Amino acid sequence: MMLCEDIKTAKVQFNTDIKTCNSEQELQKLQIKYLGRKTGILTNFFKQLPTVAQEERPAVGQLINELKMYITDNLEVKKQELASQAEQLSTIDLTLPGRAVFSGKLHPLTIILNEIVSVLEGMGFEVATGPDIETDYYNFEALNIPENHPARELQDTFYLNNGKLLRTHTSPVQIRVMEKHKPPIRIIAPGRVFRKDTPDATHSPVFHQVEGLYINKDVTLAELKGTLLAFARAMFGPKMYIRFRSGFFPFTEPSVEYDFTCVLCNGKGCSICKGTGWLEISGAGMVDPAVFKFVNYDSEKYTGYAWGMGVERIAILKYQISDIRLFYENDVRFLEQFI
Ligand code: DAH
Repeated sequence: MMLCEDIKTAKVQFNTDIKTCNSEQELQKLQIKYLGRKTGILTNFFKQLPTVAQEERPAVGQLINELKMYITDNLEVKKQELASQAEQLSTIDLTLPGRAVFSGKLHPLTIILNEIVSVLEGMGFEVATGPDIETDYYNFEALNIPENHPARELQDTFYLNNGKLLRTHTSPVQIRVMEKHKPPIRIIAPGRVFRKDTPDATHSPVFHQVEGLYINKDVTLAELKGTLLAFARAMFGPKMYIRFRSGFFPFTEPSVEYDFTCVLCNGKGCSICKGTGWLEISGAGMVDPAVFKFVNYDSEKYTGYAWGMGVERIAILKYQISDIRLFYENDVRFLEQFI
């Protein structure tokens, strides 16, 4: 029957009309198009009802009524949608500046560690690694650290239940490398180390070191000094100098402690370097023949130098940071300052 077809088509048409309707004005036009009293499509359908065969009239009449309700409901829904959109738009200030997108950044210690490694790799050192969980043998014994040495005390070292410990320095990597390789050896060992220290501005129970080790025939202390000086200048610029003071470590003989020119006052003397013009970096020295014995190296044939270097200390100098704890608190306001 023609009228039934027309009713179905009108519904399809209405569905597309309502979808593309985007304003109150358009909505009003739709209202008139479908429900208008004089020329509305639905009104027109009702007008045609008398032409339908009597027995079909109630059913067709119901169809038209259903469509009318359908259209009325959907027009109402759309009306509310448009109203809430308008309200949202009126509360948005389109003149506000956009929000910056935050991108992830490398941690300052990672940046410095990468820089240290890349400078030393450029000088011919190869990266070696060892485990964070060490045995007493590698961390102490093979490094000629005697049984009664204070570093072995419970209050300085984290011991695990299985008899192992968290390495207190990167020096055990020296032993692991020398056990596996014959000289010449030229390695650095960057990594995390652990000590039972209460955190304060200059202490953290976990920190980082970069160990250096060079073994060959006729290696001298002067070469060690030259290497560390070249390193200091690559990291901090041409005005750097290096100073050796005599020190003691069981695994080096002679041992030194070494300082860099104070980067804050360029060696003139300031409050940070306590007027000396120097900043302490770490320890170094010529590998003790006693250590060579543990790895079966002939100390008549080979000599070598070694150093330890505190990564946090270098980062503190480079970025002029006053408190080591900032590296471990993960405060985004601190971390996002480093590129
Ligand atoms: N392992 C020492 C420490 O953590 C630092 C050190 C001193 C390393 C002298 C060395 C060295 O390789 O030769 O205090």
